Formats: sequence, structure tokens, C-alpha cells
Amino acid sequence: MLASMVPKNKVVQILNRYISPVIVDTVLSSAVRRSGLTLDEVVSGNSLRFVDALKKSCGMFIKTAGERALCCKELEVLFSSMQGLGVRRKESVAIEVEKESDIVLARVSGRKICQELGFSSYGQLCVATVISELARNIFNYAGVGRVELVVLQSAPAGIQIIAEDQGPGIDNLQIILDGKYKSKTGLGKGILAVKKMMDDFDIETGPDKGTRIVVKKYLETLR
Ligand SMILES: Nc1ncnc2c1ncn2[C@@H]1O[C@H](COP(=O)(O)OP(=O)(O)OP(=O)(O)O)[C@@H](O)[C@H]1O
Ligand SMILES: [Mg+2]
Repeated sequence: MLASMVPKNKVVQILNRYISPVIVDTVLSSAVRRSGLTLDEVVSGNSLRFVDALKKSCGMFIKTAGERALCCKELEVLFSSMQGLGVRRKESVAIEVEKESDIVLARVSGRKICQELGFSSYGQLCVATVISELARNIFNYAGVGRVELVVLQSAPAGIQIIAEDQGPGIDNLQIILDGKYKSKTGLGKGILAVKKMMDDFDIETGPDKGTRIVVKKYLETLR
């Protein structure tokens, strides 16, 4: 009945503990109706509205207030742990980096996406920090460029950040990645920190082609 995004077996496991197994399917169908969503919408992301409806539907069949509260709590925990896996949102946002305030804009946008995806506060902070480092490098060393934030919907879900510019390119890349670079303008550790904080890191740079850095952070590695 419920497709992959919503963990039907886990929902059923919880419901079975509180209501008779023979009415579990009825309760699920009633919750879908009550939520006012189509099944397609439920599986593709409106899980919070669905869990509210589910709590009301199963509440009618659970006798004691204590058990009703317990069941609701279990469902909330399950769905909040799934939050984000079903998020349907615009798939990407691009921020042109031209002035200092664009760095903040990129950072805030990235943090918001991560929050909606269900990243922990620490995960959100990591991604926001990475976006700031990359956007600041563009602003400081290339003058202008862009940061694109892409929602990775599945397999595995997460966020991809593409930072690119047509600037002078990065000299000494290997020295920088080896942590031996002495910067005249900063600590000289920004790019290395970005690499360490992300799950995936790719860089292309050269004097005639500018710089393009693509990094990814997956939801499953950091909640
Ligand atoms: N987009 C870019 N275009 C051209 N050069 C760059 C770019 N990004 C980084 N660089 C060069 O690479 C060096 C290392 O960058 P990195 O971000 O690691 O350290 P930093 O900016 O010097 O200091 P911080 O640790 O404060 O970020 C910079 O000093 C700069 O010379
Ligand atoms: Mg830097």
C-alpha cells in the first residue's frame, strides 16, 4: 500500500502493538483519506501531514489515553527519523556570488535545505561552513562565480554543492591538499577542511579554466 519512502512495515509494527492487526490496514487507509493527500503525495513527501492523520485514525481504536500517547510518540519518532527522505522541493538553487552578502545568502540557503532534509544541527553547521568557505574563496580569489545547491533525492539522499568560477585557478593544489600550504590571505586550510567535512570531494582547476569544486554530504552519514 505505502511505497518505499514511508516505511510501511515499521508503521505496521508500531500499530500492531496498540491495535488489533485485523484493523491496521483500515486505519492506514483512513489516515490517507483523512490527510487529504493522495497515496502518491504521501509517499513523496508529506509525511508530517500524514503522521498527524495517522495519529487521529489510530487514536479512535486505542482504549487508554496513556497507550494513545505512547503510540503517537512512537509514530512521531519514526517519521521524524525519516524526515527528509521524502522531501519534495525544488531540486536546486543557484546563488551568484558577486558581493560579500551573497556568501551569507548561500550559507543560509544551504542550511535551510539541510534542515528540511532532516540533517542534525551539527550536519547543517558542517554544510553551512563548507558553503561559506567555498563562496568566500570565490569572492576573495576569483571575484565572481556561483554556488549551486542540489538536493540529492535518493540513493543516497543528501546535498551536493557546486562552487565554480572563471577566476585564475588554484596554484599549489597538491600542497594545499597535503596541508602544507602557507596562505598569505588566510589560514590556508579552507579547502582541506571542506574535503574532510564532506563525503565526496572533487576539484578541477587550472589557469585557463577557473575552478570548479563539487562536494556531497549524505544524510545517512550524519544526522
Ligand atoms: N576559487 C579560487 N580561485 C583561485 N584561487 C583560489 C580559489 N580558492 C582558493 N584559492 C587559492 O587557494 C589557497 C588556499 O585556499 P584555502 O581556502 O584552503 O585557504 P585560504 O583561503 O588561504 O585560507 P582559509 O583557511 O582562511 O580559507 C588560497 O590562499 C588561494 O590562493
Ligand atoms: Mg579559503
